[in-house]
Amino acid sequence: SSTDLAGLLAAKIRDVPDYPKPGVVFKDIAPLLADAEAFAALVDHLAARAKALGASKIVGLEARGFILAAPAAYAAGAGFVPVRKEGKLPGDCYREAYDLEYGSAVIEVQTDAFLPGERVLVVDDVLATGGTVEAALSLIARAGAELAGVEVLMELGFLDGRARLAPLLGDAPLETV
Ligand code: PRP
Repeated sequence: SSTDLAGLLAAKIRDVPDYPKPGVVFKDIAPLLADAEAFAALVDHLAARAKALGASKIVGLEARGFILAAPAAYAAGAGFVPVRKEGKLPGDCYREAYDLEYGSAVIEVQTDAFLPGERVLVVDDVLATGGTVEAALSLIARAGAELAGVEVLMELGFLDGRARLAPLLGDAPLETV
């Protein structure tokens, strides 16, 4: 069941206090990635969601989103598209700035990443403030694709990223594994 999957995965995510700075509890997915059974179960779940939502591309958000989205795309028979931090993608890109705890950052996608109207699933490890996914959704819209859904491994509920994203999702679900 989905509860069994969530439990299997949660047991393999390690809380690291005071990383990368004092007061922050970092969610370390390395033990999950290193566990063949848990990693396969997660990737299979993401691929099944991509198929169910009719997504022909899966977008991974740098950097940990890449690790999950690329094998899920392969397993689903979908294409993979990287959304990257600025300056890493060649050629014409759409750019979107988003706020960090201190200052801001920019993410990009190549302008020819999607076919017109193509359905895309966004995958990342953690939804925190929602700023990263919000910027990614803007890139996807500007690139002419249609959002099929957003899948995150974990949601830090106290930061209310879900409420921030709700107005941007339309009919697309935001799902925690
Ligand atoms: C982390 C995480 C998400 C994002 C969530 O990535 O992997 O992508 O932050 O935060 P938000 O919801 O508040 O935007 P990070 O920016 O640390 O990049 P990395 O994966 O390249 O280390």
